[in-house]
Amino acid sequence: MPARTTKLYEDLTDQVTALIRAGTLRCGDRAPSVRQLARERGASAGTVVHAYELLQARGYLRPRSRSGFYVSDAWRTTDQHQHTSRPSRRPTRLDVSELVFEVLEAMRSPDLAPFGSAFPGPDLFPLRQLAQLIGASTRRLSERSTLDDLPPGNEKLRRQIARRYLASGAQVAVEEIVVTSGALEALNLCLQVVTEPGDIVLIESPSFYGCLQAIESLGRRALEVPTHPGTGIDVDEVEQLLSRHRVRACWFMTAFQNPLGATMPAAARERLVRLLSRRGVPLIEDSVYADLYFGAQRPHSAKSFDTEGLVLDCGSFAKNLAPGYRLGWVAAGRFAQAVTRRKSMSSVGTAIPIQAVIGDYLGRGTFERHLRRLRRALQERQSHFLAAMERYMPAAMKWNRPSGGYLLWAELPPHIDAIRLHREALAEGISLAPGPIFSASHAFHHAIRLNYGHPWTAKTEAALKRLGNLIARTSASR
Ligand SMILES: Cc1ncc(COP(=O)(O)O)c(C=O)c1O
Repeated sequence: MPARTTKLYEDLTDQVTALIRAGTLRCGDRAPSVRQLARERGASAGTVVHAYELLQARGYLRPRSRSGFYVSDAWRTTDQHQHTSRPSRRPTRLDVSELVFEVLEAMRSPDLAPFGSAFPGPDLFPLRQLAQLIGASTRRLSERSTLDDLPPGNEKLRRQIARRYLASGAQVAVEEIVVTSGALEALNLCLQVVTEPGDIVLIESPSFYGCLQAIESLGRRALEVPTHPGTGIDVDEVEQLLSRHRVRACWFMTAFQNPLGATMPAAARERLVRLLSRRGVPLIEDSVYADLYFGAQRPHSAKSFDTEGLVLDCGSFAKNLAPGYRLGWVAAGRFAQAVTRRKSMSSVGTAIPIQAVIGDYLGRGTFERHLRRLRRALQERQSHFLAAMERYMPAAMKWNRPSGGYLLWAELPPHIDAIRLHREALAEGISLAPGPIFSASHAFHHAIRLNYGHPWTAKTEAALKRLGNLIARTSASR
């Protein structure tokens, strides 16, 4: 299609969308006829038909046989009514890594619109301030730090981390904290400590691919729990699975779950922890996004309901302060010593200058101010992104509005394959994370995870619009 015609059909689409959203054209009204609009705008009939088909796919128009197009209100339902997943009820050994690596490698190009990325925009972090601290912090390190800061890690840093738990309603002793190289290492160490090869681990459906890879590489078996994009895992199901299987551990994200963006209500979390305590089942809690809440306060972690030391809460500075520093930790409850030993065996320790810098940064008291700014920026980016989703995505799509973090879950029209869409989107300069990389059973072929945490610019909006057009075109051609 020549460039001018492409622009005209997009303009037409936008203008009719605006008329409908402003209520100038109402549900049931007849849209201007193709011939009339083509004449008025100096366009070909084909261009107008193309625009109308796109509007139809997005739920703004519906054709009536032999009498043209009419305004529809199907677009209004796009952000509602997602469902709880329905995974297999049998434990499975996993085989997900190949696809995950393919997708992750394809997403690394800096020229892509980063909707598939797992990081928020790098502009959100005080990297310059940290860089200035490095010199001073490392100069202060004593010669003994090589030994002193071995696992469980730098005392000052661990004290700061333990203090911050008060905000999530938990009382955590410094002795419980083990510093790690990112949360992923913490999660892997915890899994090694609380389970043996062949053991069954309850996970969410869908779940973070790092969880699937850890279970796969350590030879554990995964049992998926139905999970809702709004309220997270279904605790009734957890109860049933516990009574039917010999479950050795759970690995859950109770706040702003990746990939769904779901957050469990506090009552459900409390019930979950009580249930697991009664049976002595450890919970590995992945809290990497928990500081990124949009509400008045941080959601109470599962750790805050733990009275038995059975919750191993894993956190990280990769998503809220310094992505490249690879610094994480676990508040490991009764397993702290075992995790410390595992950590020594796996990597001797975590880079000592990095522990010192972050410990000093936390000691300065500016972290909370930075987090407030970060949360505000993410919330603003979310509202731009969601408004544009409504404008540009087809009516048959559904998505959620997470109450924190920077990831949302979108369900595609049923016949669109997410992996194929991922490949086609790459060709259009857009990355996205296809649903199957989050599944133990290769499910979620009609879902994608989108990242809204990058700066909202005209370029970002144009990319989202292109993605909407691609989905609408694919949908219309099936
Ligand atoms: C849900 C989740 N958990 C853990 C991690 C790993 O965190 P880290 O980078 O601190 O190892 C990630 C990173 O993408 C994540 O999304």
